[in-house]
Amino acid sequence: MLDSVIECARGAGQTALQYFRHKGVIEVENKLNDSDIVTIADKASEAYIKKYIAQHFLTHGILSEESTESIGSEDYRWVVDPVDGTTNFFAGIPFWAVSIGIEHHGKREIGVVYVPALDEMFYAQRGHGAYLNGRRIHVSEERQLSRSVIATGFPVDKDVSPDNNMENLAAVLPKVRDIRRLGSAATDMCYVAAGFMQGYWELKLHEWDVNAATLILEEAGGTLTRFREWNGVEGICIVCGNKSIHDKLLSLIR
Ligand code: IPD
Ligand code: CA
Ligand code: CA
Repeated sequence: MLDSVIECARGAGQTALQYFRHKGVIEVENKLNDSDIVTIADKASEAYIKKYIAQHFLTHGILSEESTESIGSEDYRWVVDPVDGTTNFFAGIPFWAVSIGIEHHGKREIGVVYVPALDEMFYAQRGHGAYLNGRRIHVSEERQLSRSVIATGFPVDKDVSPDNNMENLAAVLPKVRDIRRLGSAATDMCYVAAGFMQGYWELKLHEWDVNAATLILEEAGGTLTRFREWNGVEGICIVCGNKSIHDKLLSLIR
């Protein structure tokens, strides 16, 4: 099944890639506001994935960002973000990904994150390690925050909600080598899994942003916490890294 999910993510990524850096002609719509957008590429990628599931895994359920409801059986569930990083996609910046996680009876079993513009295929199967383009990946061994590159992101309601991650940024920034805001949660987590960055945290995410990359990160030896579990209605809050960096970040953020 892993091979099929990889094939599906690659096909969806290539579908979206046809629209990349054709800003003048791609359709874009606002969802919540000017910071929350969807393009024709998100929809085309999602349509590709749904068609693939209908052809090869007819009985499987789907939770996908651009479809309002979860459909199909809950035996196997595909958790899909057809384009994670739409702001980057629309701007012409290569950090955006197709993210597909497969759950069996609610347990994550497969994670595939494909970054089409860079042709980076991250994948993992429970118990079998994590890979980037066929090579095993591991989280960084760095233990010092001062030598760590840490990624984060900001929620789309940052204009109206004071809970917009600025206090956390102020707490973490002075302690680290530098901060990155790549603009794709799935890519952020895979770059931590591969040891390119040492840690990542973000507030108010959705299951489709993090499902696939969670398994990849864990199979790469990383530690991840969903903090603020009491605040589930407002979204998923995640911190990850190797155990040492994860613990240090978790002690700084709220
Ligand atoms: C977004 C990206 C971004 C994160 C946002 C997400 P989208 O996903 O992952 O990095 O900061 O919270 O919503 O909307 O481009 O699929
Ligand atoms: Ca997303
Ligand atoms: Ca998306």
